[in-house]
Amino acid sequence: MPRTAIIGTGFDVPERVVTNDDLARWMDTSDEWIRERTGIEERRWVEEGTTGAAMARRAAESALADAGVAAEAVDAIVLGTLSPDHFFPGTGVFLQRELGLRDVPCLDLRAQCSGFVYGLSVADAWIRVGQYRTVLLVGVEIQSTGLDRSTRGRDMAVLFGDGAGAAILQATDEPNRGILSTRIHADGRFAETLWADASSSARHPRLSVEDLEAGRHFPRMDGREVFKHAVRRMPEVLGQVLEAEGLTTADLDLLIPHQANLRISQMVQKRLGLSDDRVYNNIQRYGNTTAATIPIALAEASREGRLRRGDLVGFVAFGSGFTWGASLVRW
Ligand code: UT7
Repeated sequence: MPRTAIIGTGFDVPERVVTNDDLARWMDTSDEWIRERTGIEERRWVEEGTTGAAMARRAAESALADAGVAAEAVDAIVLGTLSPDHFFPGTGVFLQRELGLRDVPCLDLRAQCSGFVYGLSVADAWIRVGQYRTVLLVGVEIQSTGLDRSTRGRDMAVLFGDGAGAAILQATDEPNRGILSTRIHADGRFAETLWADASSSARHPRLSVEDLEAGRHFPRMDGREVFKHAVRRMPEVLGQVLEAEGLTTADLDLLIPHQANLRISQMVQKRLGLSDDRVYNNIQRYGNTTAATIPIALAEASREGRLRRGDLVGFVAFGSGFTWGASLVRW
């Protein structure tokens, strides 16, 4: 059975930088509060007219160029997002069209912050059984158009940013290369702990004036509860993939955790006993871009020369659902 190698990475973020001071002009918050509680210094927000599909295309093209592979080689697209361009169809088909591809299947994955790790699991299974040879995996989010920019929404609005990250996954027979193990989990008991209630088909009508007035179309979260579960689940699931391979945290060369809050990453790092140089964080510059955080960080780490052939790289994510998961890759 072949393994799945990550042969190229890419990302795209909007040019518009939104600083903490910018946010403090719209809501009761401060640069000091945001830095201290989250580590975020700035994030990127799209200008009107930029779609998720367009960012995804730029990220995908950059990943294809990095891999030295033509778009026509892509056999399937897996796209993680919680902020699709439209209710339906999924953003994947818009990306396919933007790339000029036809016929290849497009699977939109709704696993929120865990979208990239869930996507790795699906794409890896397809590749291992020989169904597809080359899969384009993308995480893309436009959070900024869905945030409550008043003081009512400050706990959420300061956290999130826009962007896209992509990876090209391909079958390889090379020994000591590729995805070793992936584990994914969910616990729907916590579905409403971080969610957006409206617009939704469960509501009659899907979106009412009352919903808008009550702000039910904005995402809502019990931040402390999410924090508590994130710092427990991420080390736990990373432990599962390491154990499955007979490895320990001492074997990890680089961990790329989901970028939700720098304090969460630091607590996970501490629990795992990893030194600073073995954990990659870029939340300071982009905030939480949900499904896009891991592939953006991966692409940046790759461009900074942080990944060498043979390195053991770990991905770990936790988010709305709750969903969580981890993957280990021999680079
Ligand atoms: O990808 C997964 C997605 N989300 C997460 O992982 C988020 C996980 N949770 C967190 O990151 C943190 O819980 C937050 C950053 C959201 C909040 O930090 P916290 O230290 O848990 O603060 P808190 O919610 O306990 O709120 C402390 C205070 C409150 O005021 P009072 O009630 O003590 O007077 C909040 O109203 O901070 C207030 N507050 C703010 N103040 C200034 C909440 N948001 C802000 C803000 N600026 N943006």
